Amino acid sequence: MNLSISKNRIPFFKAILHVVFLYPLASLYVGAFYDRLGADPVEQVIHFTGMGALNCLLISLLVSPLAKLFKLSSLLHFRRMIGLYAFAYALCHILNFLFFEVQFDLILFVEEIFKRPYITIGMTAFSILTALAFTSTSKIRRKMKKHWQKLHNFTYLIALLAVIHFYWSVKSDVTEPLIYFALYGVLMTLRYDSLRRWSQRFRSR
Ligand code: HEM
Repeated sequence: MNLSISKNRIPFFKAILHVVFLYPLASLYVGAFYDRLGADPVEQVIHFTGMGALNCLLISLLVSPLAKLFKLSSLLHFRRMIGLYAFAYALCHILNFLFFEVQFDLILFVEEIFKRPYITIGMTAFSILTALAFTSTSKIRRKMKKHWQKLHNFTYLIALLAVIHFYWSVKSDVTEPLIYFALYGVLMTLRYDSLRRWSQRFRSR
């Protein structure tokens, strides 16, 4: 199958994607402002932004295999944007935790990071994601040359850490995190060839 998106339509599709990613976030905070999030609004905002970040991460990993499958290289124009939305949702998730859960007590925030392993894992994922977000511009990409791709391959690790964080944060029914583990496994299988090439290159050093 060979589909294509003409270059001049890319801004139009980007605008649609902005609405798709921003609308749920805006409705969440409007709902929180008007007290429409049910009995536990703090849990709701942390849940929603955490799931949003995880979904964006997995969608960003799906872009390349889809582009290859449909011979639609123009899809790659949207990968950075989706990755940045993963960062934006994760940032909101952490700020919600900082403001509403620990009431901006920075010492308690740091204690939580070291005390709770699922938060340690989440923070590790977020730190790497931050590095990727700040190095995602084409100017920095050109400057970093081949090191850029090496750094950005850490997306796979971030997604894995995020799924572990999700699994660990759930107190009872782990069905949903297990589904995410399976989705992650499928995405890695789609990337099998690239992963094998990297590991061969790594071993041959
Ligand atoms: C890339 C980074 C991260 C991603 C993708 C992520 C994603 C998620 C997801 C999917 C959930 C489960 C939502 C639910 O079922 O309620 C969750 C829960 C949670 N996350 Fe994160 N998270 C990240 C980083 C962090 C960090 C750095 C912190 C704290 C500093 C944090 C704090 C929490 C808390 C408190 C919960 C709720 C646990 C509970 O239900 O008691 N997360 N996160």
